[in-house]
Amino acid sequence: MTRRRIIIDTDPGQDDAVAILLALACPEAFDVLGLTCVAGNVPLDLTTRNARIICELAGRPDIRVFAGCDRPIDRDLVTAEHVHGHSGLDGPSLPEPEMPLQDQHAVDFIVETVRAQPPGRVTLVPIGPLTNIARAFNSAPDIIKKVKEIVLMGGARSALGNVTPVAEFNIHVDPRAAACVVSSGVPLTMLPLDVTHKALVTRARNAAFRAIATPVGCAVAELTGFLERYNPARYGGDGAPLHDPCTIAWLLRPDLFTGRDVNVAIEVESELTMGMTVVDWWRVTQRPLNAHFIHDVDAQGLFDLVTERLARL
Ligand code: BDR
Ligand code: CA
Repeated sequence: MTRRRIIIDTDPGQDDAVAILLALACPEAFDVLGLTCVAGNVPLDLTTRNARIICELAGRPDIRVFAGCDRPIDRDLVTAEHVHGHSGLDGPSLPEPEMPLQDQHAVDFIVETVRAQPPGRVTLVPIGPLTNIARAFNSAPDIIKKVKEIVLMGGARSALGNVTPVAEFNIHVDPRAAACVVSSGVPLTMLPLDVTHKALVTRARNAAFRAIATPVGCAVAELTGFLERYNPARYGGDGAPLHDPCTIAWLLRPDLFTGRDVNVAIEVESELTMGMTVVDWWRVTQRPLNAHFIHDVDAQGLFDLVTERLARL
């Protein structure tokens, strides 16, 4: 397997935390160039804190963590403490981080890193609102053609919305940024709610995390157990979706997933449907195919993979 050079753009978030841990558990597959934080699930001061907590939990205080945008491009920030708790990382009891935050702004780091690498080397993995990525593309359009691919968690088609009736959180928080990214021309894979709502942390899967019996395994059981308390009554099903790790898992084992090449457009005008991902599933328009839209997963295969890899940390 080629070792991918990745930047994880993130707003931790319990499920972001598991995604970061999964990536750090696979050094043979990923060279994690940095974590770029954005405001999303909680404000930026907490997402930068949480990202560093997770690096230290993984025994990787050497990973560079950057603070990025503290609000969407042209909207007020919407956060999700009702899902993730006040800290964004409620559940386990983890120490405050000691590793430093980098001085450089996350957007500048993205621009500089993509420029410094040969074309087609850097994979961007956004698992929060897309503000940092869009700001980087807008301020340095020359990097767009150099990015190898974007693999993001966001959007919804048949699953519709989790923050409004038709909008998924990451897209809804910064629709203009999402529109910039989906129209950028960078090869794009989307892991929307359609697939993440099939990746449920059942009691058995949560028990498998705990049975790893390491600090990481126990923390992941607590993190995903906290999410489990959130929404079974609302969405049904046995457990909460493990959204963000689907991106890293797709990079590791695309054979576990099923997707389709489609056009995705983002609603940026209507307050009623703001942030809706309008997916041309049946190709009824002439719009270009701009996204590989994942809609199905071998869920047990996914959790077996995540559990096996996390046990390495
Ligand atoms: C997405 O929103 C956040 O709450 C999660 O971390 C995930 O990235 C799911 O809609
Ligand atoms: Ca997230």
